[in-house]
Amino acid sequence: TWPNGRCRRRSPAAGSRCSPGRGGCRREGRQRHGDPPTAMGREDIVREELGSLHGIPLYKYFIEGWPQVEAFQARPDDLLIATYPKSGTTWLSEILDMIYHDGNVEKCRRDAIYNRVPFLEMKVPKMPSGVELLEKTPSPRLVKTHLPVQLLPTTFQDKNCKVIYMARNPKDVVISYYYFYQMAKLHPDPGTLAEFLETFMAGKVAYGSWYEHVQGWWEKKQEKQLLYLFYEDMKKDPRQEVQKILQFLGKQVSEGTVARILHHTSFQEMKKNPAANYETLPTALMDHSLSPFLRKGISGDWKNHFTVAQNERFDQHYWEHMAGSDLHFQMEV
Ligand code: PPS
Repeated sequence: TWPNGRCRRRSPAAGSRCSPGRGGCRREGRQRHGDPPTAMGREDIVREELGSLHGIPLYKYFIEGWPQVEAFQARPDDLLIATYPKSGTTWLSEILDMIYHDGNVEKCRRDAIYNRVPFLEMKVPKMPSGVELLEKTPSPRLVKTHLPVQLLPTTFQDKNCKVIYMARNPKDVVISYYYFYQMAKLHPDPGTLAEFLETFMAGKVAYGSWYEHVQGWWEKKQEKQLLYLFYEDMKKDPRQEVQKILQFLGKQVSEGTVARILHHTSFQEMKKNPAANYETLPTALMDHSLSPFLRKGISGDWKNHFTVAQNERFDQHYWEHMAGSDLHFQMEV
C-alpha cells in the first residue's frame, strides 16, 4: 500500500523500511512474485524512477511507446491540446469536446475524458495506448499532449494542424503536480514538498523544465495555427476565453450554447462528472483517496503551501529563468 504516496514495504532482509528517497521505492521488476492480482486483475503500476527521452524526464512506459508516437500520422483536422502537466488540460479538453458537440451534455458524457480526448504519448500496461485510441477515433479528433514543443512529432506541422496551448503559473502547477505525484502511481515518490520544489525547479519532474516548456511553445505563438491561453484568464473570465477559442476555430454558437458550455465545464460540475473526473480509472493508476484529480481548481493555492523562504527562493529562480521573456504569469487572480 502507498499511504500518502510513500512506500511502507519492509525489506525482508534487513527488516528496515524501503528507502523511498527522491526516486521512490525501487522494487525489482514491475510486479512482485506471489502478489495477488489487483482488484482490477491487472498488473499493478509500480512507482519507479523516470527515464529520459531525448533529455526530457519521462515515464519509462511512455518511452517504450515512443516509436509508435514518432510514427503517428496526424490528420489535417486534428486539434492538438498542448500543455505542461497540471495546467488545465482536462478543463480545456472538456470545453473543446462541448464545442465540438454543440453544447450537448449527453454526448459529452458518452465516454471518459481520456477516451474522448486521447493522450498522444500515453502508454501503460493493459490499456490501449494513446496512439491506438487515436487511430480508432473518428475525425475531427481532439488530441492531448504534454510534449515540449521540440519533441512534438512533425506530422502535426506537416498537416498544418491547429494547436491550443494552455499555460498556468508555476507556483500553482508545482502544488498541483505534488498532489498528482502522490495519487498517480506512475510517478516516483515526490518526497516532501520542500524536496519536490527543488526537483521541479531543477526540471527533473516528468516532462522536464516548466520554464522551457512554456517558453518553447510561446515562441511558436506567432504562427497563426497556435492559440496560447492561460489558466488564470480562464478562471477570471471563462466566457471571454471560450469566445477566443470559438473565434480561433472559426465556429459560431448561440449564447445559450456558450452558457451550457460554461456551466458543464465549471469545476463543480466537472468534479462530480465521472466522464471528466478520472474516477473511472483503476485505483492502481490513480488513487483519488490520496488526492482527487479535480483537487481545488483555484489560482493561488500555492499560498497555502509555500513558506516565505520557499516563495522567495522560487521567485528568484523564476526571474532568473524568465528574464528577457515577454511571457508573463499571474500568480493569483
Ligand atoms: S493533467 O494530469 O496534467 O492532464 O492535469 P490537468 O488537467 O492539466 O490539470 C489538473 C488541474 O486542473 C484543475 N481543473 C480545473 N480548474 C478549474 N476549473 C475546472 N473546470 C478544472 N478542471 C480541472 C484541477 O483541479 C487540477 O488543479 P488543482 O490545482 O490540483 O486543483
